[in-house]
Amino acid sequence: MRHSELARWLQETDETALRELWRRADAVRAAHVGDAVQLRGLVEPSNHCRRMCAYCGLRAENRDLPRYRMSQDEVLACAQQATQLGCGTIVLQTGEDPGIKPRWMAELIQRIKDETNLAVTLSLGEREDDELALWREAGADRYLLRFESSNRELFERIHPSLPGRRSDRIAILRKLRELGYETGSGVMIGIPGQSYDDLAMDIELLRELDLDMIGVGPYIPHPDTPLGRGESSAPRTDGNQVPNDVVTTRKVVALARLLCPLTNIPATTALGTLDREGGYELGLRCGANVIMPDLTPAPYRQMYEIYPGKTLIFDDPQARCATIKRRIRDMGRTLGTGRGDSPNWLRRNASPPVARSGRKTA
Ligand code: 5AD
Repeated sequence: MRHSELARWLQETDETALRELWRRADAVRAAHVGDAVQLRGLVEPSNHCRRMCAYCGLRAENRDLPRYRMSQDEVLACAQQATQLGCGTIVLQTGEDPGIKPRWMAELIQRIKDETNLAVTLSLGEREDDELALWREAGADRYLLRFESSNRELFERIHPSLPGRRSDRIAILRKLRELGYETGSGVMIGIPGQSYDDLAMDIELLRELDLDMIGVGPYIPHPDTPLGRGESSAPRTDGNQVPNDVVTTRKVVALARLLCPLTNIPATTALGTLDREGGYELGLRCGANVIMPDLTPAPYRQMYEIYPGKTLIFDDPQARCATIKRRIRDMGRTLGTGRGDSPNWLRRNASPPVARSGRKTA
């Protein structure tokens, strides 16, 4: 699919055409990754962050937010619970927190690997190459780092670099791959200032990076951030502003599925937040095959507020998981078992096929 066709799909409003897009993406999903929906238990061990992202409620300048770091034992308890609830993977997501020391994280990863059968996914922000290597050696399987937008100018407006160091998430993604991680990335949809052309380029970059996981969700304004207050980046007024809505998010999920058939794609929490009753289903019906239930325990869960409405104060991980499982079964889909490794990663890392002559082909 060419750039112009992607850009055209992103602006499509015809219901019949869109139903056809959902149908095609759903068929490609079924054929390449199957009917099972993989559950990943999301745990957020720290909400400290040194960055100043204009969109995110965890930004360093947000001094009203109480900060926490969980102990290894607390995270381990979540890992045990993830297993009990039927998750094959634990995702450890934090702000970019220099207080998380490389050795501490390596030890935590090792303990999870020793005490459970879970795959370990990290999402800890932009970290040093030697840290990423250490965690991989400790047993981490996967790493998530969204590039947020392929438009460098827009990215810099909403994601200031640390002093003296140019933020280069594409370079980090390449490094992660070289280290043998299953690698995931993605973007936010409907960032003020983001054009349809930008978003089409994002999708092309997702394909070019040959990712194992792709996570995309709508931008949700947070009132305690510059972007949420209408600063940093203004919406476009030329008719090309991408809306931060459910239907545009579904288009990106569907196009990502068509372009990257073997990738694991979640129906993201942000989509589930925009439409509480049916958001997950809408993602799962147009290409997604993963859900990441939040298992972070109270009172920490409420403090991991990257955008408003992310957590319902009164639900607990167990109830949340039970609801998600019921919703998956009600759709006629099955629950994934095992780690749910990315078929794309497995393909890349399979030993080369043996040629008829008995020699290995490249
Ligand atoms: N709205 C939607 N998504 C957000 N993220 C951060 N802040 C917001 C927001 N206000 C997303 C970013 C980040 C991921 C962990 O959460 O894309 O990579």
